[in-house]
Formats: sequence, C-alpha cells, structure tokens
Amino acid sequence: MSETNVSLYYKNVMAETIGSEHGITQEQLEQLDKETLPAIVECNRQRQAGQIPYRDLPYKEDYAKDVKAVAKEIQAGCENFVVLGIGGSALGNIALQTALNPYMYNMDEKQRRGPCLFVFDNVDPMQLASFLSWIENKLDKTIFNVISKSGRTAETASQFMAISQLLLDKLGEDGFRKQVVATTDAKEGTLRKIADQSGLRTLEVPDGVGGRFSVLSPVGLLSAEMCGIDIDALLSGAAKMDNTVNKEDFFSNPAAINAAINRHFYNRGKPISVMMPYSYALKDLSDWYRQLWAESLGKTKDLQGNDVFVGPTPVKALGTTDQHSQVQLYREGPNDKLFTFLQVKDFQQEVIIGDAPDVAPELGYLAGQKMSKLLNSEKLATEYALLHDKRPCMTVLFDRIDASAIGQFIYLFEVTTSIAGLLFGINAYDQPAVELGKEATFALMGRPGFEELADKIKPVAQIDEQYVV
Ligand code: PA5
Repeated sequence: MSETNVSLYYKNVMAETIGSEHGITQEQLEQLDKETLPAIVECNRQRQAGQIPYRDLPYKEDYAKDVKAVAKEIQAGCENFVVLGIGGSALGNIALQTALNPYMYNMDEKQRRGPCLFVFDNVDPMQLASFLSWIENKLDKTIFNVISKSGRTAETASQFMAISQLLLDKLGEDGFRKQVVATTDAKEGTLRKIADQSGLRTLEVPDGVGGRFSVLSPVGLLSAEMCGIDIDALLSGAAKMDNTVNKEDFFSNPAAINAAINRHFYNRGKPISVMMPYSYALKDLSDWYRQLWAESLGKTKDLQGNDVFVGPTPVKALGTTDQHSQVQLYREGPNDKLFTFLQVKDFQQEVIIGDAPDVAPELGYLAGQKMSKLLNSEKLATEYALLHDKRPCMTVLFDRIDASAIGQFIYLFEVTTSIAGLLFGINAYDQPAVELGKEATFALMGRPGFEELADKIKPVAQIDEQYVV
C-alpha cells in the first residue's frame, strides 16, 4: 500500500470565495508570503542550532529502540496498560489510541492488538475509585506507565502515590518494581529520584522537549507500541512531513501557510480557531492540538518583554455531532472564527445504510447509501453553509487514517505552532502562566514553603455569603 498523504486546502479562506470583507485577497496573500518567509528561515535556524529538539524526534532511532525493548519486557501477561500523566504527558497518548485503534478496542478482544488502555489525566475521586475497585484484583496483569518530566506535578504524583500504595500492599516491593514503568527526565527531577531509588524500569523524556511537543518521544510511543500501533510508520510519517514543512518557500510549506492564515485572521478580528474533524478517530487530535496551540501561543509578553496579551483561542468541535450543537452560533453569531476541518477521503471501512421502512418513504433517499458518503457530504454541506455566511474555512485532507498520516498531522501542527509563535513574536515553548495555579495547589495542600501563598489565597477560599443565591 502506498504511503498516505496529509495536505492543507485553503481556497475557502480567500476573498474569491467569501469576499474581501472577510477573505484574503491575492495581494494580502503575497504580503503573508513576505512576512512569513523570515519565520520559516528562523525556525529552521533554531532547529539547526539545537534550540527546538522536538523537530528531530522523527529521526531518534534510539528512542524507538528503547520503547520496543521495554514493551517486549512487559508484554507477557499484560492485560491492562495504564498511563498516569497530564497535559503533554497524556493528550498525545489518548490521541494516538483514538486515531489508530478501533472504537471498541478495550471492549472487544477480537479488535484488540495489545492490552486494554486507560489514560488517567485527572484526579477525580469518583473516576479513580471506580477504576481502582475494578483493577485491584488484576494488578499483576497491569502495567502502570507514570509519565512526568518533572515528577512534581500534583495530579500525576498523587495518582502514582495511590497506585504505588496499592501495588506495595498487594504485591510487595518486587511487584511494584515489575508493574511500573517511569517515563521521565534522564537525569533529574522527583520521578527520576524515585525511579532510581526503587529500581524501576525507565524511559526518557528528551531534554529540551516540552510536554506538548513530546508525543513522538517515549512519552507517546510506549502506550502506542504496547497497543499495536506501528510506531515506525508514525515516525516516518512525521519525517515525511518534515521534508515539506522545512521548505523555505511559503507556497510549498503547509505549516507556514497554516500559521500565516491563523495569524492573519487573528489580527482581523477572528481570534477563535475551531478545529472540526469529520471522523471520530481524529477527534482527540483536536484535544491535543488545543493544548499545543493554547499553551504555546497564549502569552502576555513578546520576546522583547513588551506586554502583548496575545493568543488565538483554540476550540474543538466534532462533525457531525456539533452541527446540532454549535453550527447555529458558527453561522449566525459573530464572524470571529477560522474553521479548520479534518476530512478523510477513504475510511477503509464502510457501513451501508439499510432500507427505509414502508411507512417512511421520505427516508428512501438514504437507503443503500454509504455512511462515509453521508459523513463527507455533511462536512461539505456545513462548509458550504459557513461560506454562504462568509466564514473562512480550511481543510486538512487525509487520504486515509493510518500511522503515517497521523505522524504527518502531528508534525504539521507542531511546526505550524513554532512558526505561529515566531509570527506573534512570542516564546512558544514556555508556559509561565501554568505555574501560579500549580503553586497555589501546593499551598492549599499544605506543602512546606508555600505558607505565604496560602495566606494570600484565603480571601478567595472563603465563601462570601452575600454573593450566594
Ligand atoms: O506541555 C507541557 O509542558 C505541560 O502540559 C506538561 O506536559 C504538564 O504540565 C505535565 O508536566 P510533567 O510532565 O512535568 O508532569
């Protein structure tokens, strides 16, 4: 089977489709070419200088080798694989699983190519209590992959401590060591310390790669490998996209065009970026994208330290589900959004719609038709309706969904984010605003050293009855 392709179609943001009040004229597009070229060159320069090591992940054969070696060691008897992590340490794992394994993977042994997969990216006591009660008699058949670069993230640390206690109580120290894989920094951090002290199996979170850019590293690869996903094809898909998005030619570079169009509309009163896959398999990629876009581009300061308060707001939607929930707003509400559809040409599986009941001849037009035709027709219909109201739309086209295509998509949006960061003039690789909330949690949970902050939080923590209705 030939390698798949992922491409970006952008005619429907142009003035020739939606008019010049909301669309991009040829002149404006040429201007975008001029403005964006230096950002492509700078992104490539930063890569050459080793400043953005995520860009080399598709070629890191050692990581894939390490992942496969660990998978081989833990596969025998592993019926459940549980990821403990949050943000960049979870969203990629979830996205890969939804995209590349069948919908009924966990429920149907026939459709499963590895252990059942569970990803816990929250500390909800109801969710965890239910899971722990189900898993407690299956601990010896369950591998827990705790993923945290720092090891000090309260959510992941607390989940890990709950699981560790259970494992130690039920299986003892040997069992604990056998059932846990820690993915963390190679040298430092809290989880590294614990892993070394307890003799846990470990995999590396690459140096200089932030969580949201780490899915193509051991962070995302171990659960994928365990669940039968072709990680070599995933990486080679990303490498294939690298050959396109490194082109220093605006019109041949989909990441540059994607970033430039997003920034252009942001500056023209369309700060909301809606990603709407018409494929259930692709739905969690919009969740992954939402973090990548929001944490990377939402910044107070530019690179010179000026206040800019910049950042497009990513929104996820799902076709056709959200046609019956959001499209009323999307068409008639403020024209403040750019839409990016994800569309699949060949679903490789089909469902044929059955006959219409005799009493409902009005449903006859559906009878005998392909479900894929209905889904893609609904995408086109929604796009047509949005264009009718002069809403700009782009489409990421997938020939089909396979590991290569998903690798291409991931790399396309990572490099899009890097170029967008350069166009906005901000640092796309830090997330300083996340820290205060993390520290406030430490304070509220009584961590020594955070007493002063705990005092500052008190007025917020006290409910003022005057405002309760
Ligand atoms: O993208 C990021 O850097 C964050 O979302 C982190 O992945 C998240 O906060 C978890 O951090 P850690 O891996 O240190 O537990």
